[in-house]
Amino acid sequence: MKKFENKVAVITGAASGIGRGLAQRCAQEKMKIVLADIEEKALLAAQSELKAAGAQVIAILTDVANHENVKALAREAINAYQHIDLLFNNAGVAAGAAIWESTFNDCKWVIDVNLWGVIHCIREFVPIMMEQNTPCHIVNTSSIAGLTTYHPSALYQLTKHGIVAISEQLHHDLAIRRAKIKVSVLCPGFVKTNIMDAERNRPAAYFNQQINGQKTADADDMEDAFYQMIKNGMPPKAVAARVFQAIVEENFYVFTHPELNILIQARMEDILAGLNPALPPGPQ
Ligand SMILES: NC(=O)c1ccc[n+]([C@@H]2O[C@H](COP(=O)([O-])OP(=O)(O)OC[C@H]3O[C@@H](n4cnc5c(N)ncnc54)[C@H](O)[C@@H]3O)[C@@H](O)[C@H]2O)c1
Repeated sequence: MKKFENKVAVITGAASGIGRGLAQRCAQEKMKIVLADIEEKALLAAQSELKAAGAQVIAILTDVANHENVKALAREAINAYQHIDLLFNNAGVAAGAAIWESTFNDCKWVIDVNLWGVIHCIREFVPIMMEQNTPCHIVNTSSIAGLTTYHPSALYQLTKHGIVAISEQLHHDLAIRRAKIKVSVLCPGFVKTNIMDAERNRPAAYFNQQINGQKTADADDMEDAFYQMIKNGMPPKAVAARVFQAIVEENFYVFTHPELNILIQARMEDILAGLNPALPPGPQ
């Protein structure tokens, strides 16, 4: 996709951070925008901000983990704009620590939002795009954590690896069907967003009834180090600029911090050399 004016973008997790940065960029490109998010107040604030800047924008309160919500999102997007050209599967949460230190509801919540959210959206939006048979693009937000293994939350890590796998396979599945839909997977490093405060959007159904294991001091130290790096991270606006460049150039892998690619390389080399996983250099 080379031109964006008047095209329609659907963005999940659009009320904050990277999603909000993508929405602002869509507005600059004079796109029609569908904002989807679970946090109503922030969602309406994002809509007002974009409207004030002159954008055509609707906001749909959506829990991407809920299939019926995602169905309704697709329906309302089509009702409003009759077309969907660009889909950003971006909503995501982080919780838990090592698997045994995470509660059952931590596991369910992170997997339901980060993985099932992407699955529901692909199931609802790809058939619409196939039927349109016009150039479309899907950007799935993974993370550098989707190509490496070292993160405070093992659950976050597994979902981000899953999103890379889903995206690569989606790319193949669409290619062999000669679809006009391109795919990218966004693998950012640290971005200055509200992700470390993801708990604000944990629905009551996922509240922790009991703690299965206690986080250790080591886990807390690692989380603090990540918190600092996110606080000093890249602005979402710069991530959005990188994403739009990748859409125009039809790049599949979208990196924001090329200096971190050495971690991917080291992991791949260890795998091919039959070596055990090595701790990456950094805040251990
Ligand atoms: N911030 C980083 O350093 C970083 C790095 C790599 C990847 N990511 C990924 O970027 C994506 C966006 O996160 P962010 O960093 O902008 O964080 P953020 O918390 O600022 O934004 C995430 C948005 O997703 C929404 N959301 C949460 N649960 C939802 C649900 N069930 N349904 C719909 N919306 C929901 C939140 O309300 C929020 O508006 C996530 O997938 C995250 O994993 C972030």
